[in-house]
Amino acid sequence: MDPMLNIAVRAARSAGDLIIRVVDRIDTLTITSKGRNDFVSEIDQQAEQEIIRILLKAFPDHGILAEESGKRAGSSHHDEYTWIIDPLDGTTNFLHGFPQFAVSIGLMHRGKLAIGVIYDPLKQELFTAERGSGAMLNNRRIRVTRQHAFTGALLGTGFPFKDQRHLDAYLGMFRSLIVDTAGIRRAGSAALDLAYIAAGRLDGFWEIGLREWDMAAGILLIQEAGGIVTDFLGGESYLRSGNVLAASPRLHQIMLDAIQPHLTESLREIDRPSA
Ligand code: IPD
Ligand code: CA
Ligand code: CA
Repeated sequence: MDPMLNIAVRAARSAGDLIIRVVDRIDTLTITSKGRNDFVSEIDQQAEQEIIRILLKAFPDHGILAEESGKRAGSSHHDEYTWIIDPLDGTTNFLHGFPQFAVSIGLMHRGKLAIGVIYDPLKQELFTAERGSGAMLNNRRIRVTRQHAFTGALLGTGFPFKDQRHLDAYLGMFRSLIVDTAGIRRAGSAALDLAYIAAGRLDGFWEIGLREWDMAAGILLIQEAGGIVTDFLGGESYLRSGNVLAASPRLHQIMLDAIQPHLTESLREIDRPSA
């Protein structure tokens, strides 16, 4: 195993342990609001500090992009490495005791995702990927499904609950996708949704307005598991734009065809590569 993956796994497990220690006393945590429907607990912050401590101890020159503490540039020639961290993805679930949340850690090297780790501390499921070496769940190889049509397909999604500018466009997509598929799940952790595509538990996923830390690790997992990830124009702007469509290879095109009629000019604009 790559030493960087090893350290990322250690950091994810350590943050997961910290989160698990407080699940039965969530009501004692200090919770603050970052914006509309956007809450953060002291655990998000502690878990993030723990991850950063472990990563920087091993790689003091690397850069960091973390949800709660922001950007921190790397130093010397190693600044081409950036760790992208979501210490607790699914905070709303966590705060309600709804058992679906995870730690997500991705590593970007010279503009490409190199490592992805997503850890679900309740189920003790560890999803890992290294560029070029495949994707694993608890050290066993995982693959996306062979699903090639809507009939029988199980999709995942996230509702635009913080920023509702694109709600109508989203609901149009939802309506198109719900009619012919076997079902749509909104489990509340984008990182786990993406990991589940990689593991073949979901056939496809889409969401508007994600952030890098929600996606980085999950995208690499899907690519290494044989799946396709694009933005809503079928391009590669997703990490920047936050609009993500991920699926098994043949289902991806069918989902894209179903989503595109609902794109507004402002959604298209977000995905257009800047000139
Ligand atoms: C959120 C979750 C959720 C998604 C939101 C994210 P957080 O992350 O991934 O599934 O719908 O867009 O912000 O805030 O719990 O880390
Ligand atoms: Ca998140
Ligand atoms: Ca988070």
